[in-house]
Amino acid sequence: MQASTSLDGEPVTLVTEKAEPKFERQISMSTLKDEFCDPDNPKQIQFEDISAAAYKIRDGVMKTPCTRSRLSGLLGVNLFFKKEFLQFTGSFKERGARYTLMMLPQEQKEKGVVAASAGNHALALSYHGKELNIPITVVMPKIAPLMKVQACRSYGAHVIVTGKDISESREYAMKLGKQEGLRYINGYDHPHILAGQGTVGLEILEQVPDLDACIIPVGGAGLIAGAALAIKSLKPSVQIIGVESETCPSFAEALKAGKPVYTSTTSTLADGTLKAGKMISTLADGLAVPTVGVNAFVTAAPLIDKMVVVEEQSIALAILRLIELEKAVVEGAGATGLAAIIQGMLPELSGKKVVVILCGGNIDTTCLGRVIERGLAADGRLVRFVVTVSDRPGGITELARTISKMGISLKDMYHERAWIKSDIFSVQVKCVVETRDAEQSKELEQVLREKYDHVVWGPVH
Ligand SMILES: Cc1ncc(COP(=O)(O)O)c(C=O)c1O
Repeated sequence: MQASTSLDGEPVTLVTEKAEPKFERQISMSTLKDEFCDPDNPKQIQFEDISAAAYKIRDGVMKTPCTRSRLSGLLGVNLFFKKEFLQFTGSFKERGARYTLMMLPQEQKEKGVVAASAGNHALALSYHGKELNIPITVVMPKIAPLMKVQACRSYGAHVIVTGKDISESREYAMKLGKQEGLRYINGYDHPHILAGQGTVGLEILEQVPDLDACIIPVGGAGLIAGAALAIKSLKPSVQIIGVESETCPSFAEALKAGKPVYTSTTSTLADGTLKAGKMISTLADGLAVPTVGVNAFVTAAPLIDKMVVVEEQSIALAILRLIELEKAVVEGAGATGLAAIIQGMLPELSGKKVVVILCGGNIDTTCLGRVIERGLAADGRLVRFVVTVSDRPGGITELARTISKMGISLKDMYHERAWIKSDIFSVQVKCVVETRDAEQSKELEQVLREKYDHVVWGPVH
């Protein structure tokens, strides 16, 4: 820390970064085993671990509401939302983080812990570390949203931003932990993390005792491992459904292989095909874990009835529905459960009592704006078309009048003359309009097709 003076003369304190530690050469990856997450000796957690966690964290983590959704009628499902996005740092990760910190031996509580995370695990550890007076170091990749980096700093964590992706950050964090005696806390596989996340399952059973199914998003699988164990132990008839994003179906791949395997992330190209890649952006960034946890896998695999994979555009639509109808701001990963129902992946749930965990709400405001637009497009309310009209005076005005007479809002308009091949007195007009619903978009298409010879509807590549 350093004393300084602000522009208006008030003394201020500048928080300076600690210099990043240099590593001794002998720390190699082979010595960097996480003893709590050993692929050769995976640990299946037990129901008693979850009840112990529930008792320990009862005063430090919020019991979030689990309420019936207004979307029930629209979707034909008796739908309940477990609102974990209402936790203080915006996600369920607080449950596991607090329990793991509370269970550390005293000496380790004094030394502190280290973790690698781009978001919610880092926020949860930073906040509860401050609450419990345990030093926290988080290593965040360069792609981590600035808002989350700043929030971790504001909770007093030592934040190191390094690594082009989470695996580089993890390697750095593990080396640092080894060198400085800080315990490394895996955010989806440490046994205490799984037990802590399981407490959400106990609450769900208490809040909706007669549920038929629970839909749970899956990243590294810590949440589904804990929550499924809690629910199935007390009510084995409940269907447990896991959801992943199409960009990273690592749990589905692990089930096929019988063990966690590396799954490269993919992105959807404009023509609908999938492209493999290393660093793919997805709306569900919290679920983009290429290899699921070893303890999480052995605990969760026997308890899951069905796994589904959702498309990015369904996630955008789910986020939009939650804002419009539920007044809830939920991040992509947190909205995948609803996306699975919207996408029609779970017809067997029709008329059933279903709990969907809305597990996080940390979405950047800039990202939210774009997601809303994509959601409107996926819903058929934001449409794009090209129409060729007369370039004589009044031609374009006539088109604008037709649109406005239907009560449709014109968002964007672009004229092109040089490249069109039809008669010289015509102009191609590219429009983006916002309609009331998909039905009104259809009506507009019909009106324009009746009026004009050349109408190209939808995305134009
Ligand atoms: C909002 C949100 N939902 C779901 C998950 C997935 O949890 P897990 O990695 O335990 O499967 C995460 C993980 O970071 C998350 O942040």
